[in-house]
Amino acid sequence: MIKTVLVTGASGQLGKCFQKLAAREEEIDWLFMDSSEIDITSTRDLRDFFKSKRIDYCINCAAYTNVEKAESEKERAFQINAEAVKNLAEICKKNRAVLIHFSTDYVFDGTSKIPYSEADPTNPINVYGASKLKGENYISDILTDHFIFRTSWLYSEFGHNFFKSILNKAEERAVLNITTAQTGTPTNANHLAQLVLMLIKEKNTNFGLYHFSNSGETTWYGFAYEILKISGNLNNVQLNKDDSYKTIAARPTYSVLDITKLLETFKTPLKSWEDTVLELYKSEIKN
Ligand SMILES: NC(=O)c1ccc[n+]([C@@H]2O[C@H](COP(=O)([O-])OP(=O)(O)OC[C@H]3O[C@@H](n4cnc5c(N)ncnc54)[C@H](OP(=O)(O)O)[C@@H]3O)[C@@H](O)[C@H]2O)c1
Repeated sequence: MIKTVLVTGASGQLGKCFQKLAAREEEIDWLFMDSSEIDITSTRDLRDFFKSKRIDYCINCAAYTNVEKAESEKERAFQINAEAVKNLAEICKKNRAVLIHFSTDYVFDGTSKIPYSEADPTNPINVYGASKLKGENYISDILTDHFIFRTSWLYSEFGHNFFKSILNKAEERAVLNITTAQTGTPTNANHLAQLVLMLIKEKNTNFGLYHFSNSGETTWYGFAYEILKISGNLNNVQLNKDDSYKTIAARPTYSVLDITKLLETFKTPLKSWEDTVLELYKSEIKN
């Protein structure tokens, strides 16, 4: 039987990764809705849409993701990342749809020295992290049939992300001052979309909260170095370690996610972040 999958926030980075996968998945009836078609803060938009069509899965890629701006737009960040998500969870529950949602490593304060597991206490240190945590909590309080994937440092060939911006800077032969003050794991958004698709296709019911990232860890400086190395640009830019730049939002100094639960539950291998950067560069950028 054909499953109907609604993707909200479909024109964002992760939404586009799903759109790319959908081209090859004809047994699924995909409904890609961007913010102009479904505003997730509008109860009416959501209700009308769910009334017009039976939805089996709702993949929520819609989010307020500007970490810096969230500090001055707290209300808007909470409206999109928390209150709208509550609404979505209630509507999914009423319509017996599975909700698939994404959260962030920024729910942690970064004081740990070892990767964070799903059982570790959360303590966000910025507005974005706090709003995403509230959204997570609403979902787990409201409906059982959900997957929440906390992920980190997403990049891909789509949207605005660190990977693309470093490649662009290399073309400009710029001087790059990049921080070593945060450690995390770069994660290819395409891999996250692939896992979600696998779970839908196998009707997986191991619902709950999972950490998803590629394996290993690095700093933003280490990530930039790797991107320049694999693209043959190390000699084209001057890459400096620089921890002097002050951001508006505080960021966890260490936010590596422990992915053991995901690996054991779904038996799916995840590549190292270095191999993944190389793979994406070769497949999407170089050709
Ligand atoms: N990017 C990362 O590094 C990262 C790291 C950890 C976790 N995550 C999480 O991963 C998920 C996907 O992130 P992403 O990188 O794909 O973000 P993104 O590229 O910023 O995409 C977010 C999308 O949400 C849409 N949106 C915003 N408000 C909306 C609303 N009220 N109704 C409907 N759509 C709305 C935006 O559309 P408009 O542009 O039209 O407003 C945009 O297309 C998010 O949950 C994010 O919190 C991301």
